[in-house]
Amino acid sequence: MQRVKVLVVGAGVVGLSTAVCIAETLPHCSVTVVAEKFSPDTTSDGAAGILLATEFPDIPLERQRRWFKESFDHLLAIADSPQAGEAGVYLSSGYHIFKDVPCDKKPYWADLVFGFRNMTDQEMKRFPNHKFGQAFTTLKCECLSYLPWLEKRFRAAGGQILHEKVTDVHKLALNYDAIINCSGVGSRFLVHDEKVYPVRGQMLKVNAPWLKNFIRDGDGKTYIYPGMRYVSIGGTRQAGDWRMEVDKEDSEGILERCGRLEPSLRAGQVTGEWVGLRPGRANLRVEREYLPVRGRQVPLVHNYGHGGCGVTLSWGTALDALDLLRQSLYEKPPLARL
Ligand SMILES: Cc1cc2nc3c(=O)[nH]c(=O)nc-3n(C[C@H](O)[C@H](O)[C@H](O)COP(=O)(O)OP(=O)(O)OC[C@H]3O[C@@H](n4cnc5c(N)ncnc54)[C@H](O)[C@@H]3O)c2cc1C
Ligand SMILES: *[C@@H]1O[C@H](CO)[C@@H](O)[C@H](O)[C@H]1NC(C)=O
Ligand SMILES: *[C@@H]1O[C@H](CO)[C@@H](O)[C@H](O)[C@H]1NC(C)=O
Repeated sequence: MQRVKVLVVGAGVVGLSTAVCIAETLPHCSVTVVAEKFSPDTTSDGAAGILLATEFPDIPLERQRRWFKESFDHLLAIADSPQAGEAGVYLSSGYHIFKDVPCDKKPYWADLVFGFRNMTDQEMKRFPNHKFGQAFTTLKCECLSYLPWLEKRFRAAGGQILHEKVTDVHKLALNYDAIINCSGVGSRFLVHDEKVYPVRGQMLKVNAPWLKNFIRDGDGKTYIYPGMRYVSIGGTRQAGDWRMEVDKEDSEGILERCGRLEPSLRAGQVTGEWVGLRPGRANLRVEREYLPVRGRQVPLVHNYGHGGCGVTLSWGTALDALDLLRQSLYEKPPLARL
């Protein structure tokens, strides 16, 4: 049987997860990942990688729940295995605190993480400027370790890697039977999807190994995430801002806000600063279309626009993209429009 040639564009957490799902599940496919940037230079590499999600307004909640659950279960199995250290995946406990009681007092994933509960009055005393809080244990997936681990798994499944920037998708499609679009914020140029926009996030790496619990303000702008190598503190959410340079004022604001939440941070050393562009989109896009290429209809599966939850939903959306690809390989494509 002739092998089906599949091309995955993007080597962030979404692209590599999708590539692994396809290469391991569909052995008759030969899968290639093409990307301009690989670990440690993708947006995913700087993400704290904590599993928690905000809602996309127009995607059925059951679908978002399934994405969360599949990703959580997949990563929990890694955390529970001897591979956990190499893959950078482990359980992490902490607090989600709110200045005002949120309308939505229980996120859709509350029963998917462990031990979700309201914080007690005593716990809230540590945060005098906040009125309400939730405590839970979730997973943390550090892409600086997880992406190289996924890449190894991908190669072991026969996957191939190409290091280049894609400018013309039609030209690419000449040589492949299916294309999967996992280009993050790059989709704005690559697929001319104007609904994709950057949400700039700046964070600092701090050496403060005594910190073990995460603290996240519900507005998503202030957080402290202890990790294997450093504590990530942040942050910013600047929509439409493409600047990749570190902004001094942002750094000062981060230190000030995080120091207020966790005074012991003031004794920590800042060892690095980092900026990433979240692939913002009102609704994440996991969809299929067909690309007409010289009389053929090449399936094109989109998987991008994960915003601030790309790590959190990576495996679940990869499984959906796999399903869309699998269907298109068994279905007859629509007739080419004349
Ligand atoms: C400060 C910060 C903290 C975050 N914390 C968390 C968190 O705690 N939990 C969480 O779930 N998420 C978090 N995120 C969000 C997360 O980083 C993103 O949702 C995720 O990285 C998106 O992954 P991706 O694979 O779609 O994109 P990326 O990681 O950006 O990968 C895109 C890939 O596509 C390639 N590409 C794009 N265009 C082209 C082209 N034309 N040709 C070739 N290749 C191309 C790139 O080179 C790259 O390989 C955070 C983000 C930031 C900025
Ligand atoms: C948690 O607190 C909210 C807001 O006060 C309340 O509505 C909810 O019932 C509480 N949940 C539990 C389990 O106590
Ligand atoms: C991504 O999708 C767009 C359509 O929205 C398409 O034109 C483009 O070719 C796709 N890019 C890749 C690399 O698949």
